[in-house]
Amino acid sequence: MSEAVQEKFDTGTGYGLKPNGPLRHLAEVGPGTPYGEVLRRYWHPVGLSSDATSRPRKIKVLGEELILFRTRKDGTAALLHPRCIHRGASLFYGAVEEEGIRCCYHGWLFSPEGQCLEQPCEPGLGLHREKVRQPWYPLQERYGLIWAYMGPPEKKPLLPRYDVFEDLADGEHLIVNDAGVGGGGPAALDFNWLQHWENVMDPFHVPILHARFSGEQFTAEMALMPEVSYEYTPNGVRSTQIRVLDESRVLRRVTEVMFPNLRVVPSPKLAGGTTNMIGWVVPEDDSNFRIYTLAVSEDPEFLAKLRSTHDGKPWATLTDDEHQSMPGDYEAQKSQGDISFHADDHLSTTDQGVAMIRRMMAKQIRAVESGADPAGIIRDAAVETVAITGGNFLVPASSSSTDAGKDD
Ligand code: FES
Ligand SMILES: [Fe+2]
Repeated sequence: MSEAVQEKFDTGTGYGLKPNGPLRHLAEVGPGTPYGEVLRRYWHPVGLSSDATSRPRKIKVLGEELILFRTRKDGTAALLHPRCIHRGASLFYGAVEEEGIRCCYHGWLFSPEGQCLEQPCEPGLGLHREKVRQPWYPLQERYGLIWAYMGPPEKKPLLPRYDVFEDLADGEHLIVNDAGVGGGGPAALDFNWLQHWENVMDPFHVPILHARFSGEQFTAEMALMPEVSYEYTPNGVRSTQIRVLDESRVLRRVTEVMFPNLRVVPSPKLAGGTTNMIGWVVPEDDSNFRIYTLAVSEDPEFLAKLRSTHDGKPWATLTDDEHQSMPGDYEAQKSQGDISFHADDHLSTTDQGVAMIRRMMAKQIRAVESGADPAGIIRDAAVETVAITGGNFLVPASSSSTDAGKDD
């Protein structure tokens, strides 16, 4: 077809579109998937401490269904595969006892580490019971959260500490929830976790989505278009956002992601200083996740009060029309798809942070595949405390450009 003829027809229409689909190696979390194996090299919060009780609870983490409970005798939290190794009844219907959980079907009793303690129908309560094992995962409890390690046992790292949650001042409390964060949405988020995690390195959406579209959802400062820079850190990516507030003051806001799924996003309302909260974006499966947020504050209601509103209304009370006219993070991220078609994205100059995350994720996949540790794995107790640098810092306007006040 000659050029002259071609110009007579429309170009760029949807006809014959062939989507390229998701970047599955980054987004998928199940056993054996590339990033699923990266995720399995770290500890993950899988519940609040209060979620583990003498009543078995179904949870789903990294595409695996599991049963969480707490023994009656010494209160040990435990995480077992649901399918009883005898003949498959679910331990969800089991009874939690002093030492473990007893299957409802034939009464096999399992310890928190999956040892079979009793087979009541068998001679001698099971003469060979030590030969079988209910699959289990190691747990630890810290900061009001239950942490699981679901990776190769020989690769198990230390559970990190975070400097902002150590050495609390008088009157300060640790507060934890799994209710989601930011610009709206339910506690149980029903799309792929990576859409949320990448969003942490997308500071340009803040003045658009959270100001121009939602009305001033956070603060007046957040409505200003920032000057942004990004940098790799040893365990993730950091972004610095500069907003000139007036002739004498500049707001330097720092956000971070740390591998494999940690978000460091200071409250937009934080007046100044290092953030008092961080959060973990924990995939339940490829299209569902939860966010566990940990904060330190004198106000026990700090996290509850943090949730933003849309024209003064909480997200959950909006009508369908209001969701459309005042979209927030949930509407933007959920509408990217249950798993976004990343390979069809058109990344532009302001998507540098997203591109850096994806590049660093691919690097961790290669590290794990080659037998090395991915970023941020800690094996030495002398360095188990991670320094958090995110925050909002007010600096004099005379300190110019994106490294304004870097030393504070
Ligand atoms: S199926 Fe669990 S004891 Fe038989
Ligand atoms: Fe947002």
